[in-house]
Amino acid sequence: MARDGAIYACQSCGAVQTRWSGQCPACGAWNTLVEELASRPPGALKPTKATRSRHLAFEGLDEATPAPPRIATGVGEWDRVCGGGVVPGSAILVGGDPGVGKSTLLLQVAAEAARRGQGCAYISGEEAIEQVRGRAQRMGLADAPVKLAAETSLRAILDGLKAEPFDLVVIDSIQTMWSDNHEAAPGSVTQVRAAAGELVRLAKKRGLAVILVGHVTKEGAIAGPRVVEHMVDAVFAFEGERGYPFRILRGAKNRFGATDEIGVFEMGDAGLTEVRNPSALFLNTAGERAAGAAVFAGIEGSRPVLVEIQALVAPSAYGTPRRAVVGWDSGRLAMILAVLEARCGLGFGDKDVYLNVAGGLRISEPAADLAAAAALASSAFDVALPQDCVVFGEISLSGEVRPVSRMESRLKEAAKLGFRQALGPADVDGAAVAYTGASRLADAVQRIHDAAWD
Ligand code: TYD
Ligand code: MG
Repeated sequence: MARDGAIYACQSCGAVQTRWSGQCPACGAWNTLVEELASRPPGALKPTKATRSRHLAFEGLDEATPAPPRIATGVGEWDRVCGGGVVPGSAILVGGDPGVGKSTLLLQVAAEAARRGQGCAYISGEEAIEQVRGRAQRMGLADAPVKLAAETSLRAILDGLKAEPFDLVVIDSIQTMWSDNHEAAPGSVTQVRAAAGELVRLAKKRGLAVILVGHVTKEGAIAGPRVVEHMVDAVFAFEGERGYPFRILRGAKNRFGATDEIGVFEMGDAGLTEVRNPSALFLNTAGERAAGAAVFAGIEGSRPVLVEIQALVAPSAYGTPRRAVVGWDSGRLAMILAVLEARCGLGFGDKDVYLNVAGGLRISEPAADLAAAAALASSAFDVALPQDCVVFGEISLSGEVRPVSRMESRLKEAAKLGFRQALGPADVDGAAVAYTGASRLADAVQRIHDAAWD
């Protein structure tokens, strides 16, 4: 029986129920409903006075309407993902696994912006002030006029932010903040939602940009409150594969820019360095290209990026062959294997198949299909692709190779990095390199088998 005023909030999706159940009726997660005290008993809302909303027409929306101003922080890769800098009055949520480098990135963003004359504050709820200062010193940021605070009380933070005219503030992390208006425990959905709500309101009211750091659960969602994702203007994910120094900042939502833009960083002893030319990073340029490797000419956001896709096809020792992917979607691998089998007669039923994207990049572009298929065929035939060849093209279930977006930019980037050949969909005009077009996957596979290139 529900007690008076008790509500049950799902710690996964944030949905609120009036009674407890083992499974959240909203998102289907198990054991996520936790009792939290409602801050206000239902029905206690004061009736508000009727107000009339303002109506505006689209007319007159010409060049005279200025684009939103931006704070260029000086961390170029960060600004790129934002869409050209942080918009004053906006709220950004940055999520990522523990230890991926969120605190490092945002300390750097705050420090660089402060060096450029912006009023910046970095509020840590996780580390002591001396720890943050020590890190700033190691990273060579000691001279940046950033205001540091170690604080978890939302009231103290809001008072502090109202006392001085700040332009940009980092809250590290939103899960450590608590508001004394709510009795729920810090980190609970109620607290996180309340703290995010207050901070977003302050951002809008004072034209202050607020960057919230959010922890990510094992399942990859920003812990607890999906609701925070709806409150903010932009959601970025900071990703990196374990064992690689590369870190990628990816937009998941952005009201002020494109979401397919990525920022690439490298984690070193003195913090993160920006990687301006990511192609060089994801390519294995040393030595001959082995059988099973294909260089994919991809597009990440507005930038062409070349990346090596590696496949290994080996006889299976067990009844059920293994399929393993790193940086690639396993459903998409299954599809490519099925098309190779059905349309090209290449069987993998008794083979283990491994597919790896070099450098820790995760590829989601369908344009990479043909590169993956080429790597698989190359490994299956034990025939290496030419050292200086890039591959791109989408594969349909019928076994066709489809054209993809921005083929010219892909080829130009390849030429710039010294590649002299390309394999892709038929009919590409004005290729910057020697081009082999294949309208069917079977043709491309045949060429790889015969090592026949134009
Ligand atoms: P951190 O920013 O604390 O991660 P998060 O806030 O996402 O939990 O980064 C932690 C890791 O980064 C830690 O394992 C050490 C490493 N690191 C470096 O390699 N070089 C550096 O200069 C810094 C500051 C951290
Ligand atoms: Mg941290």
